[in-house]
Amino acid sequence: DASLLAESKRTAGYRAAEMVEDGTVIGLGTGSTVFFAMERLGERIGDGLSIAGVPTSYQAAQRAREYGIPLTTLDEHPEIALAIDGADQVDPGLCLIKGRGAAHLREKCVADAADAVIIVIDAAKMTGRLDAVVPVEVLPFACGLVSRRLKDLGGLPALREGVKKDGPIITDNGNFVIDSDFGEIPDPVSLERQIAGIPGVLGSGLFTTFSGKIRVVVGEGREFRIV
Ligand code: A5P
Repeated sequence: DASLLAESKRTAGYRAAEMVEDGTVIGLGTGSTVFFAMERLGERIGDGLSIAGVPTSYQAAQRAREYGIPLTTLDEHPEIALAIDGADQVDPGLCLIKGRGAAHLREKCVADAADAVIIVIDAAKMTGRLDAVVPVEVLPFACGLVSRRLKDLGGLPALREGVKKDGPIITDNGNFVIDSDFGEIPDPVSLERQIAGIPGVLGSGLFTTFSGKIRVVVGEGREFRIV
């Protein structure tokens, strides 16, 4: 139920916030689970922790300001000690699908810049095999071409449209998002590469190249485990 889910997210987020070391620059991912980490980081800052965060979206920046987390940019800090981020699905090899909130392009840049990435999720997001829709951020000019190419790759592409806006949603970077359903994805590594190779694609929600530096904090009620 909803309160158990929120508790699981809080457990994971708070645990990740404890892993942040004084004097570091951290990546601030997007989504409800990371916001719990930010809440706890705000408390730790009140107790004297000194950090700065690189936000991955307008929403992450807004929340960070609310919690009193000083902000910086990737240009000022192209090397980040640690990124804390959420995910939509995680497989046993620590490949991820992200982008439900359309923040995956900046999240991927920040994950790349980070020495270590902590993914915070509730237990329901662990899966044997990735099968969620893959969000793909695209240059609006190339929307038709990218849709065609995603079909060639076996996907069922659908332009993401707004709930409180008519027509396509516009990302924080001024682009469109195509959600492409591939069903079960047998080889996420090669699919990520193939999608990235389509002209007009700026980045997909498949994250398969960071497994070596990812730790996943899985919340289950008040319990957690680290994978
Ligand atoms: C944002 O675009 C996504 O990549 C998020 O990281 C993901 O949707 C996690 O959100 P929740 O923690 O709210 O599930």
